[in-house]
Amino acid sequence: MDQAEEEKVFQERVDAEEKIEPKDWMPDKYRKTLIRQISQHAHSEVIGMQPEGNWLTRAPTLHRKAVLLAKVQDEGGHGLYLYSAAETMGVSREEMIDDLHEERAKYASIFNYPTLTWSDIGAIGWLVDSAAIVNQISLQRTSYGPYARAMVRICKEESFHQRQGYNIMMTLMRGSDEQKAMAQDSVDRFWWPVLMMFGPHDSDSVHSAQNMKWKIKRQSNDDLRQKFIDQTVEQANAIGITLPDPDLKWNEERGHYDFGEIDWEEFRRSMSGGGPCSRLRLAHHRQVHEEGEWVREAMRVYENKKRSNQEAA
Ligand code: 3HC
Repeated sequence: MDQAEEEKVFQERVDAEEKIEPKDWMPDKYRKTLIRQISQHAHSEVIGMQPEGNWLTRAPTLHRKAVLLAKVQDEGGHGLYLYSAAETMGVSREEMIDDLHEERAKYASIFNYPTLTWSDIGAIGWLVDSAAIVNQISLQRTSYGPYARAMVRICKEESFHQRQGYNIMMTLMRGSDEQKAMAQDSVDRFWWPVLMMFGPHDSDSVHSAQNMKWKIKRQSNDDLRQKFIDQTVEQANAIGITLPDPDLKWNEERGHYDFGEIDWEEFRRSMSGGGPCSRLRLAHHRQVHEEGEWVREAMRVYENKKRSNQEAA
């Protein structure tokens, strides 16, 4: 088959909802776009450990600490599933990490914001993990098999993360005036950056059209953002939190909440290295990566030794 025929058969398989597997033929651009998206998703999971890890030593009770520790470890695990899924496309872990360190690869802009108080941990679990779930439930049906399967497992764990965050917020909202004010302040700071997690408007999204055709993406950035807003308003009302958007109101005709405009300038700044903690996040990742070199070296020596023993046997 020539290239055009291969592409036609590939698109027919995608249209028929068949999963594409690592050894199947695929257009080079499909491979590249998935390496970009999956590796950036993996980097987000791992970089996302930093703002929450910041509160591990200051969690208010032993129980909260144990739960947060488990959550942060889960995020590291999600990074590992995702790096493995990306590796099936022929890219190495070293290349992906290098792209992150050299700022050729991005990670979710939300993790460039600082966690200033304990209630930020509640706001992240509730809002950031909810937003991630809305996106990732959709990605469970993505066309690339290893990515879709990783999403199924990740979504199960994210629902526990979301509940622990909402539980923190609910507890604070039943507490003292100071605790209520702290919870509200966290939502005031995180609300708009969370809405940016879904990416630019559909009309400005460079990858969406092709990714929808290849069914890498199953729902658009704006549709997912709307879904998240609709479900979150009810959750906020239930615990007495006010979402910081004066334009937020139910639109009977659309059957959705209307909402105000996102500050896209801030989004672009945060996404391209100018967020409040961007430098810190990357510097910390580079430092920890360098400090872990002895572990990778030990594993390489062990693997080589095992291989030469097997060859000798
Ligand atoms: N932060 C950083 N970069 C973003 C972004 C954000 N919130 N939103 C979009 N971008 C980037 C895109 O990666 C793309 O960058 P590139 O072309 O330079 O690589 C550019 O902005 C243009 O955006 P598009 O809409 O054209 O890009 P996509 O079609 O890829 O859509 C996306 C963006 C919706 C984020 C999509 O890539 C996606 O669904 N990715 C997988 C999900 C993901 O990465 N989630 C991370 C969230 S955090 C998380 O899951 C951790 C959990 O523990 C909370």
